[in-house]
Amino acid sequence: MGGAQGRPSKAEGDAGPSTTANGLPIREIPGGYGIPVLGAVGDRLAYFWTEGIPNFYENRRKKFNSTVYRMNMIPGPPGFPKNPVVMLLDQKSHKVLLDNDKVEKRDCITGTFVPDLQYFGGYRPTVYLDTSEEKHTLLKGFLFEVLKASRPRIFPEFRKSVSEVFDSWEAGLKKEGKIKFKDELAIATLRFNIKAVLNVDPADPTVEANLGKGVKSTVMTWLAPMFMPIAPAPIPRLLKPVLAPVAELVMHTFPVPFILVKPKYEQVVKFFRANSKEQLDLAETQFGLNRDEALQNLMFATCFNSWGGIQILFPNIIKRLASTSPDFQRELSEEVRKAAGESGGSITPASLSSMPLLQSAVYEVLRMDPPVPSQFGRAREDLIVESHDAAFQVKKGEMLACYLPVIGRDPKVFTSDPQDYNPKRFVGEEGQKLVQYVLWSNGPQTGSPTTTNKQCAGKDFLTTVAQLLVAEVYSRYERVQVNGDNLVALSPPSNA
Ligand code: HEM
Repeated sequence: MGGAQGRPSKAEGDAGPSTTANGLPIREIPGGYGIPVLGAVGDRLAYFWTEGIPNFYENRRKKFNSTVYRMNMIPGPPGFPKNPVVMLLDQKSHKVLLDNDKVEKRDCITGTFVPDLQYFGGYRPTVYLDTSEEKHTLLKGFLFEVLKASRPRIFPEFRKSVSEVFDSWEAGLKKEGKIKFKDELAIATLRFNIKAVLNVDPADPTVEANLGKGVKSTVMTWLAPMFMPIAPAPIPRLLKPVLAPVAELVMHTFPVPFILVKPKYEQVVKFFRANSKEQLDLAETQFGLNRDEALQNLMFATCFNSWGGIQILFPNIIKRLASTSPDFQRELSEEVRKAAGESGGSITPASLSSMPLLQSAVYEVLRMDPPVPSQFGRAREDLIVESHDAAFQVKKGEMLACYLPVIGRDPKVFTSDPQDYNPKRFVGEEGQKLVQYVLWSNGPQTGSPTTTNKQCAGKDFLTTVAQLLVAEVYSRYERVQVNGDNLVALSPPSNA
């Protein structure tokens, strides 16, 4: 795909440019922001309630006949700063958001809304820093070193964590015939994440300042309220007419005061401070970072960036795979058991790279269900942004945004059944050419995070653990069946 954002050329006798160098017509950006405050409130109600996601985006794409348009991003006024964006919904226009020369990424993870910095100890975590800030280079470099040190622990610790989850699922299925599978997976992956980074289990009662069995609720109490203004309310459809106004007022209208979560936040700080001496020494000596700032970043990267994404992604991986045919699941299980057999019975980094079916099935979940669906960036200069069929003038300072689940289904790139989960999509030579369009990490799946870009620091860590999850499931089972949020059957391999 040609992604060049071409320079405009002037049509003869015309006051302004009418086409780009690539011959695309320059169009006025459709859509708008409406009356101050009321327009933003209207878009927010449509986003969360009357239209919902993804219909909100699709309805406007159809209405404006354009994959680029103006809209108010949530949460917005009256309780938050106005958040007007130019939305980009195709693979070509989205490229501008990955170009750090063209967009600034300072304080715009969710547009103009930034949670109270007290949630982060008064510091701006790496994800809020622009590539032009020296601190970005230092903090991201520090996190790379922490992740490098975690490598020897990833495979054994992950296996241990999920084996316990599988034992418990099996016991639950025997007893109840079905089991809500998300909770246990979430607790196990949180403990795994922290163990991988710090080399201590936060729930172990012998560990200093441990968070005990309530580790998940403590961490969630700290994390959930800061991003509540942009989260959909988990209300059953039937109760929406009654509860929606209350949820809207409580969740999306004003920020949640930090004071409410301060005690839990302080418990997490105490635990990390007591158990991260090695990492903080590294931050101080190798990167010249202040220990407290490094600590806050370590906490946020481990609990929010990493586990926050994992706890959304992993249930989707299980659900998507359970939705595939018994034949596909058997084929996957055979691939996994063959690769594990060739490496002495357990999964190793080498065995993961010898499983094309497994890799493809995971990329396909990341294409369809990217856990962080929106990214933002502010135009550093006046820009021409090209979609597949038109070009648009964006002014310096305007906020650009995207919604990846729509971009991941761009029919101009994923030409065959883009709306369907096809676990074999990325297999073979042609399939491999599509891997670059898997963009969950704020960069192509074929790209690498560096200290000079804004691609997810944990891209390779996450790709590995997502593949490991599938490998561990399908080395033990040949078929997984899910109904809604319930796991209803786990079938061991018939020829094991
Ligand atoms: C499913 C899991 C994950 C998802 C969906 C995810 C997604 C993302 C996305 C979309 C961004 C870019 C945000 C933006 O600039 O708009 C990002 C950045 C980042 N992620 Fe991840 N991430 C995940 C796991 C991890 C892990 C395991 C780590 C480990 C430390 C991590 C650390 C970071 C950091 C530090 C940044 C900021 C990068 C920078 O400022 O250059 N993430 N992540």
